[in-house]
Amino acid sequence: MSPELPVLADTRGRALRDLRISVTDRCNFRCVYCMPREVFGADHAFLDRKEVLSLEEIARLAGLFVDRGVRKIRLTGGEPLVRRGLETLVEKLAAIPGLEDLSLTTNGSLLTPARARALRAAGLRRITVSLDALDDVVFKRINDVNFPVSGVLRAIDAAAEADLAPVKVNMVVKGGGNEDQIVPMARQFRGTGHIVRYIEYMDVGNSNGWELADVVPAGEIVRRIDETFPLEPVGANYPGEVAKRWRYRDGAGEIGVISSVSQPFCGGCTRARLSAEGRLYTCLFATSGHDLRAVLRSGADDDEIRARLARIWGRRDDRYSELRTAETRVTGPRALEGARGAQTAARIEMSYIGG
Ligand code: GTP
Ligand code: 5AD
Ligand code: SF4
Ligand code: SF4
Repeated sequence: MSPELPVLADTRGRALRDLRISVTDRCNFRCVYCMPREVFGADHAFLDRKEVLSLEEIARLAGLFVDRGVRKIRLTGGEPLVRRGLETLVEKLAAIPGLEDLSLTTNGSLLTPARARALRAAGLRRITVSLDALDDVVFKRINDVNFPVSGVLRAIDAAAEADLAPVKVNMVVKGGGNEDQIVPMARQFRGTGHIVRYIEYMDVGNSNGWELADVVPAGEIVRRIDETFPLEPVGANYPGEVAKRWRYRDGAGEIGVISSVSQPFCGGCTRARLSAEGRLYTCLFATSGHDLRAVLRSGADDDEIRARLARIWGRRDDRYSELRTAETRVTGPRALEGARGAQTAARIEMSYIGG
């Protein structure tokens, strides 16, 4: 670590604190809102092996990010568990002095008890499992690979048993798609110690055909749960936390609601994202990234790379969700009106950047 380096701030005064690393652009699911089959079919060109950063390259970059202020790292994909050597990478990252939190977001399909234990032993602290429905018909329609709910529930148990707790369970809520699963998900996980996080469906990427009408606003999600299981708000765990927290008044635990469309949180956004091919994106909705792989492979030394990170962050101005929402009006308890999702240049796909 280089403790003398000053804290980096972007043009809006936001520090660099979190790094989300996508370790692969591949996934064994074809979620309709993320990797629809029509786009990610048999002939889709995924990244070639040589194009993807090696474990050593990822670990080196991660260390330099920590030198420049990063304290939290989350591994994502695609599906991170399809990446060979993931446990080795976790071990390397866990050994970086100064890193305070190391977590991973997975669809759970490959998270066996043995794998969960191996990840924990390698130094992973926490895990988030995506699960969009409890009803098999609804879930299979979303994942589009016929994967059953029971498989994901087993993964959540495996994670908790391996002490990767509390387990967070991400549910992307899509109006007319799985919104009838909001309350069943609350019922299923209340009292288990796991935390369901309801995520407003976002206009990420170019292939999911997002429309504002598909968004169920956070306020409405909370209202529906509160009707059955009364809730009260809880303060954030840390400044800039993405999810707003609510707890059950009867003491059965808490939920989180991620309102990136109806109430964006760009003002506190301290997140950088590294794609599997080594591009650095300063926003989830960025249209282009900074090619760190070229810098690494040109033989740059650590000082040069740290200086590059500082330059990129120092120029950062992103606040996509705020700008999108400025065009959006809440027109009723259920409805949002206005923005259609930016029709700008091609945005990076969620599966390249990991959410
Ligand atoms: P914790 O570290 O446990 O607080 O997790 P987290 O909320 O940072 O991580 P997670 O990957 O579970 O994030 C949940 C979801 O929130 C992501 O998958 C995205 O859909 C959304 N999200 C996270 N960060 C951002 C962001 O910077 N901007 C926007 N618009 N959405 C985000
Ligand atoms: N809107 C909101 N969340 C999304 N995710 C994937 N695509 C979207 C989208 N369009 C979620 C996944 C996973 C996390 C990494 O991001 O379900 O939980
Ligand atoms: Fe689904 Fe996640 Fe895979 Fe995307 S990366 S297809 S959201 S499981
Ligand atoms: Fe951060 Fe961009 Fe998301 Fe705003 S839209 S919170 S700047 S990643």
